[in-house]
Amino acid sequence: MKRLLITGGAGFIGSNYVNSILSSSDDFVVNIDKLTYAGNLENLKDNETKRNYKFVKGDICNFELIDYLFTKYKFTHVINFAAESHVDRSILGSEIFYRTNVIGTNILLEAAKRHGVDKFLQVSTDEVYGSLGEEGLFTEKTPLSPNSPYSSSKAAADMMALSFYHTYDLPIAITRCSNNYGQLQFPEKLIPLMIINALSDKKLPVYGDGMNIRDWIYVLDHNKAIELVLDNGRVGEVYNIGASKEMPNIEIVKLVLNKLDKSEELIEYVTDRLGHDRRYAIDSSKIQNELGWSPQFDFENAMENTIDWYLNNKNWWERIINGSYQDYYERQYGKN
Ligand code: NAD
Ligand code: TYD
Repeated sequence: MKRLLITGGAGFIGSNYVNSILSSSDDFVVNIDKLTYAGNLENLKDNETKRNYKFVKGDICNFELIDYLFTKYKFTHVINFAAESHVDRSILGSEIFYRTNVIGTNILLEAAKRHGVDKFLQVSTDEVYGSLGEEGLFTEKTPLSPNSPYSSSKAAADMMALSFYHTYDLPIAITRCSNNYGQLQFPEKLIPLMIINALSDKKLPVYGDGMNIRDWIYVLDHNKAIELVLDNGRVGEVYNIGASKEMPNIEIVKLVLNKLDKSEELIEYVTDRLGHDRRYAIDSSKIQNELGWSPQFDFENAMENTIDWYLNNKNWWERIINGSYQDYYERQYGKN
């Protein structure tokens, strides 16, 4: 049985991970999350009474707190999901990205080094590789060439994690996944933003010519890969994760409108993102060959399920849009 420290487990991917792991294992899970705008405890409400689960509101940049948690809970495994994760926000202001994504990761690595762990998994992104032309795929050997403050902060964290392996033998592994979609994704990212705008008959803002390409993966496929790397991945290694589903943004937007029976007249081409990466595409043969992982969810079905989830959980995203979701912690846990 593992004693897991999960960071950022109130966000999109982390909360899906915590929900899955607590419904399928007896592992003991401590979830530390700062509850930034992107952290939402409502994502985790089914776990509140579970005896093998503890939520801690806190910042991964707080070494005393992290050190205390390691001492108290004697973690065997760490999964670092916590991050500032939105490229557009990183363009507006980068400081918090370097603070959380770089300093925060450093503090977790230092604590893991001090206390010892069986595995430290750094959840990273394909964006560290930069942008592709029309041909080719990112492999684990592709040189890092991050272009946004977000991706450069993630690349720095990756290099740091690898340096802790080489210097101190800390058993780290890194996953680099492509763009995720699914339930519980904060409506600032492309797919939930487009679904919610379409449902509200608002314009759908498409950056540039809409022909930037992303490689889409369902969040539960990503999380299964993380579980496998945590259990069986080789230490000191990087594993790319992707489902080989490249799509130009405009096709995603049209697909959403089509599924919701809304007019394409809602599409609005807007000024392009600064430094906008043109294309991401992942070669995931390493994890497929070494760990037997493969994506299990078909894109059409999983997208349909995702759209249905937003249709059926209007309350969840309306409370995000009006800001009241951030009162939940206080109602649930009181002020502190
Ligand atoms: P998210 O923004 O939805 O969630 C991030 C979580 O981290 C939030 O709950 C937030 O409150 C928490 N957090 C932020 N700063 C913190 C701090 N200083 N201390 C503690 N908690 C803090 O992000 P996500 O989409 O779930 O992404 C999770 C991880 O996966 C990130 O590391 C991201 O880089 C990586 N990733 C995301 C994608 C994607 O498509 N979303 C793809 C590949 C990799
Ligand atoms: P996003 O979901 O922010 O993920 P990332 O930038 O990490 O890949 O954006 C996905 C793609 O969608 C990216 O090419 C930018 C584009 N996009 C828009 O065209 N309009 C939008 O409003 C948003 C949020 C993104």
